[in-house]
Amino acid sequence: MAKHTIGWLPGDGIGVDVLDAATIVLDRLALDAEYVHGDIGWEFWCQEGDPLPSRTVELLGRVDAALFGAITSKPNKAAAAELVPALRDTGLVYRSPIVRMRQMFDLYTCLRPCRSYAGNPINYRHPIDLVIFRENTEDLYAGVEFSPVPPELAGLLGRLSKPFGAFAGYGPDELAISCKINTRKGSERIIRAAFEFARASGRRKVTVVHKANVVRATDGLFLEAARAVASDFPAVEMDDANIDAITMWLLKNPNNYDVLVAPNLYGDIVSDLCAQMVGGLGFGCSGNIGTTLAVFEPTHGSAPKYAGQHKVNPIATILAVKMMLDWLGEAERAAALERAVAAVIAGGKVRTYDMGGAATTLDMARAVAAKL
Ligand SMILES: NC(=O)c1ccc[n+]([C@@H]2O[C@H](COP(=O)([O-])OP(=O)(O)OC[C@H]3O[C@@H](n4cnc5c(N)ncnc54)[C@H](O)[C@@H]3O)[C@@H](O)[C@H]2O)c1
Repeated sequence: MAKHTIGWLPGDGIGVDVLDAATIVLDRLALDAEYVHGDIGWEFWCQEGDPLPSRTVELLGRVDAALFGAITSKPNKAAAAELVPALRDTGLVYRSPIVRMRQMFDLYTCLRPCRSYAGNPINYRHPIDLVIFRENTEDLYAGVEFSPVPPELAGLLGRLSKPFGAFAGYGPDELAISCKINTRKGSERIIRAAFEFARASGRRKVTVVHKANVVRATDGLFLEAARAVASDFPAVEMDDANIDAITMWLLKNPNNYDVLVAPNLYGDIVSDLCAQMVGGLGFGCSGNIGTTLAVFEPTHGSAPKYAGQHKVNPIATILAVKMMLDWLGEAERAAALERAVAAVIAGGKVRTYDMGGAATTLDMARAVAAKL
């Protein structure tokens, strides 16, 4: 029996291309692992009405980790129109399989390291070395949404909330409500994960991202939780910043920051900004980490226009493999893989189109494998 069982979820579009690249480096690393394919994505929505079929949920329940490529998703009406005829008008509603996977397996940490590598022509600056801890299961992504708004909900809000009076005259179809839900437990555990990481890796500071001056209830709770958790980590400095302000400060002085922790939506925004500073979508990797399962992925989508062309940059995915190796306890292989990526980038000979070159997805993966 192999030492590790890994769920292999290519998904849609370039998700397939970049996982082909991952195969090349994993083969070279000779990881003692069994890779088990899982169905996920648009095809399964259209054919079966579920982009995350129950057989894939069952698979995720028994693997040590999973590597995920990307999926295609579309707005509700477009999604409903692409169902096979037998499934149309049956009340099926598309919901992102990634968000569901995160909630179903309580993958509460979205870990997004953003490191610039010397010699990357599309670095915004060098060096940059930021690590983002994004809460992954709550907040505006909780999925508690109303459109149309049921009259009983509007009535209740009218009674309980004075500011809701401004919206009281709208009919059910004339407004929509998405609930931002943050729990103390959910806030504390992501903040604790960020501080524990900072302490273990010798990082100096954790910055808490919020908007507590306006979004007082939920972000107030998050900031309060952060202050309480920080007191357990006297060796790590804590500061905080509003989400709007930090987008400016990160661009101006990225090296003033180190580890960032944020509720789901702000974490999503900040991590895309930071990924762009270190080369953009071809370099953004992420881990969705729970207590028993973790799913690693590049942060980009399925980029349909490049699907099947082996044109896009696989470095984001290769760095996601590096994160997966760390999670599996394969620290030496993980470090070797990151060194190999850094060496290829520094060499400057193999560059995909986003880096100004003509190398293919597989050329890049082979170049990294060759350095291992
Ligand atoms: N995690 C996910 O699976 C995920 C994330 C974002 C978007 N999506 C879905 O993907 C589909 C396409 O979305 P989109 O076009 O907005 O975003 P995208 O990330 O798929 O691609 C946007 C553009 O970024 C560039 N790009 C993306 N990945 C790259 C890479 N590895 N190397 C070089 N360049 C790269 C390409 O120019 C591409 O056209 C949509 O259906 C969307 O819902 C999925």
